Order: sequence, then C-alpha cells, then structure tokens
Amino acid sequence: MKVLTVGGGAREHAMVKALARSGAEIYASMGNNNLGIARLANETLLDKGTKIENIVRWAVDKGVELAVIGPEAPLGKGIVDELEKNGIRCASPNSKAAEIEISKEFMRDLMAKHELPGRVEYEVFDDIEAVEDFLSHYEGDLVVKPVGLTGGKGVKVMGEHLESKREVIEYSREVLNEKIGGVPRLVLEERLEGEEFTLQAFSDGENVIPVPLVQDHKRLYEGDEGPNTGGMGSYSMPDGLLPFVDKETYEEGVEIIRATLEAMKKEGRTYKGIIYGQFMLTAKGPKIIEFNCRWGDPEAMNVLPLLETSYLELCDGIAAGDISNIDVSFEKKATVCKYIVPEGYGIESVAGSRLEVDEGSIEKEGAELFYASVDYKDGELYTTTSRSLAVVGMADELKDAESASEKALSHVKGVNIHMRHDIGKPESIKRKVDHMKEIRGE
Ligand code: AMP
Ligand code: GLY
Repeated sequence: MKVLTVGGGAREHAMVKALARSGAEIYASMGNNNLGIARLANETLLDKGTKIENIVRWAVDKGVELAVIGPEAPLGKGIVDELEKNGIRCASPNSKAAEIEISKEFMRDLMAKHELPGRVEYEVFDDIEAVEDFLSHYEGDLVVKPVGLTGGKGVKVMGEHLESKREVIEYSREVLNEKIGGVPRLVLEERLEGEEFTLQAFSDGENVIPVPLVQDHKRLYEGDEGPNTGGMGSYSMPDGLLPFVDKETYEEGVEIIRATLEAMKKEGRTYKGIIYGQFMLTAKGPKIIEFNCRWGDPEAMNVLPLLETSYLELCDGIAAGDISNIDVSFEKKATVCKYIVPEGYGIESVAGSRLEVDEGSIEKEGAELFYASVDYKDGELYTTTSRSLAVVGMADELKDAESASEKALSHVKGVNIHMRHDIGKPESIKRKVDHMKEIRGE
C-alpha cells in the first residue's frame, strides 16, 4: 500500500521504519532531507509540512491511499481534512480533533466541562491587568503557558524558570505582547509537584489501545536542569511501566485518556490516531500536563521499534475506524534514547556543523540510529537549529539498554554538539524514584 508520511525528524524516521517493516511503500514529505527517511522512501517531496496544498497534490498524483502525519503544525492547519477531501484515508486526527494539542485553553476547558479525571486548576487571560489582579489573590506556585503552539519551549514554571510573582507578570506581559504561541492569550495553572511520564495510545475514535510508558527528559542539562526543550532523551522498561509508576497508576492514566476521547466524541471531535498524554504523577495521582495529537518525540523512538504488530495494519485500522480486532503487542525490552542536539539548542542553536556517523558500529552495539533535523548535502551530514540525531539502545534490562546507547553515542563525531549522558543511568532513575517517595511522604 502507498503511504504518505509527513515530517523529517527522528520521530518520523521511527514511523517510516515501522511502516516500511510492515510492507508499506513510503511517499515521504519533509522540510529537511532526512537521510534515514530518504533511504526507505520510494519517493520524497522536500516541502514543509504546512505546505498542505503542495503535499496533498503530490500525494494524489502518486496514488497514495493512506497518510500518517508526524508533527502537530500540519495537523493543526488541517492537513488531514484536505487529504480526506481528496480521498486519502488518514491515521491522524483532523483539525477539530487536533485542537486538543493546538489550544491549551481548549484542552483545559474540555476537561473542566466534562469534569474529567486528571484535570488541574487553571485560568485563561488576555490582558495583563487581569493577570496582576489574579496574582494578588493567588497563593502558591503557578505555571505560565501560552495558549498556542511553542514547540515545548514556551512554558515557564514558577520556582524553576520564574522566581517571583513579578517575574510571572513580566513573562505574561511578554507572551501577550509578543503573541508567543501565535495568539495574545495565556493559561495560568497550578504548579504540580511530582514526576512526569508519557502514556500514548492508539485510537480509532472508539477503541483505545495504550502502548508502553516512556519517561522523557525535557530539560536541556543533566540532572533535569535548564530550559525546557522538545525532549533530550527518554527510557522505557520491559514491563511497559516505569520504576515509579505501577500498574494501577498506568490504568488510571489509560482511563483519563479514554474519558477524554469520549468527551471529544461528544463534542463532535472524534479522535483518530495516536494520542499522547503528558502526565504528572502527584501525591493525588496522575494529572494531565498536556495532550499532544501525535507521537511524542523522542517517545516514538522508544515504542515503535518494539512494536510486533504490523504498524501498517494498525494505521489502516485507525483510518478505517476499527482497531478492535487488532492484537497489539510489543517486545518486552528496555529502551534508552539519547538525542544529539546542536550546541545552544533550546537557547540559540549553533547550526551547520558537520557530523560523522558510523552506522554499522552503532548497530553492532545493539542500538538503532534515528536521523532528525539534519541536512544531507553533497554526501555529508550537517546540523540544523533543531535536534540532530537520536540513538536508542535496546536490551532485556535497562542497564544494558543504557550502556548500548552510550556506546552508540561514541560512534557519532562532530563539533558544537550537546547531549545528556545521565538519561537511563541508575543514579538518575534512583533520583526519580526517591523524588516520588518524597512527594508521597513515604
Ligand atoms: P508543556 O509544553 O505543557 O508540556 O510543558 C512543558 C513542561 O513544563 C512540562 O513537561 C513540565 O515539566 C512543565 N509543566 C507544564 N505544566 C506544568 C504544571 N502544571 N506543573 C508543573 N510543571 C508543569
Ligand atoms: N516529548 C515531548 C513531545 O513530543 O512533545
């Protein structure tokens, strides 16, 4: 079957690998020439995902039957609506359903209106006086979130990025004046304390099939310090849980996703595709930080390589609106993903550095390489301003997956690059488990 994929990051490389493995003929559209995707694709179109008209015309021209979209921006702009109008079935949400990620205001209002489990206290603002007034009565720490998309980089947390109420006001003013996130609106919400985890699930609009849990590391520096990024790396465990998340909590998370998608359906926004729940496990159980209308990046690289079921069959089922008869299973392995990013990523990236990658050696170490936003020009790889490459170590036990990822990193050479070595290491895991115990007062 001819399948259109949209996006040129490591997440999309993971999607394309899983589709190719299950026999799809890939037609890949991407903004940068991702070498990993280009090698697996029958044909490629070099265009940004938001050039919807061009992509749809190209897909129709090529006789594509099914489409799977990687990033949120084209989903928010309605690429699925256009593809479907042109007779191409999609395993990703239409613009009405994608609103769950595109607008943090919509998401919080949906959860409040339907009294969904896992919701948090919040208020929406569009003028600075109202923010000041609200803060003069509010006790406790807050989080400032632009309503629109910011690539994971627009959220600032009081007590971490913002020291005082005055700094909250200053940043709120900046969000409103500079329309960070595209619109002059912001959400102030209660700051949650706990450990974050990612729960993703396939949905055909009716049935929800969860996948193994992953923990991402959004902070730029080791020890979870520094600014938020799109994600520096992640790990998953052979049992699909996490060292600080038990089966019961996992089920609670699944229930939150199920209830949310039921509410979406009631609102006339039936959700098809992979749904991503970013959770904070607090002393009062799991709470929603955000929903994304697509695979997580890096989380897709932890989960998709382990998928034993045909990803093509799953996407076909999602698009057709029925995955109830598909037996979805994953290899019971631990995975550790580590990203190589350009120096200054998350602040001001130094782009254009040449990278040397020894793919054969990475494979021999028991790891997989995923190309991200690198440009392949004249036989050489160059960094861009976004994340460059990801390596994923896989093994029966976490410690072996972690050491495979470290060995894999040693086969990538270049200047002006940065990575976090602490992800998946015993000390890092212990810190998270201890933190959770402290939160629970154990
Ligand atoms: P988001 O873009 O909404 O995923 O937020 C980025 C990061 O900000 C999250 O991964 C959290 O680390 C942090 N964050 C967002 N919302 C909250 C919250 N209500 N309480 C504490 N931290 C938060
Ligand atoms: N890993 C964070 C995200 O995909 O949004």
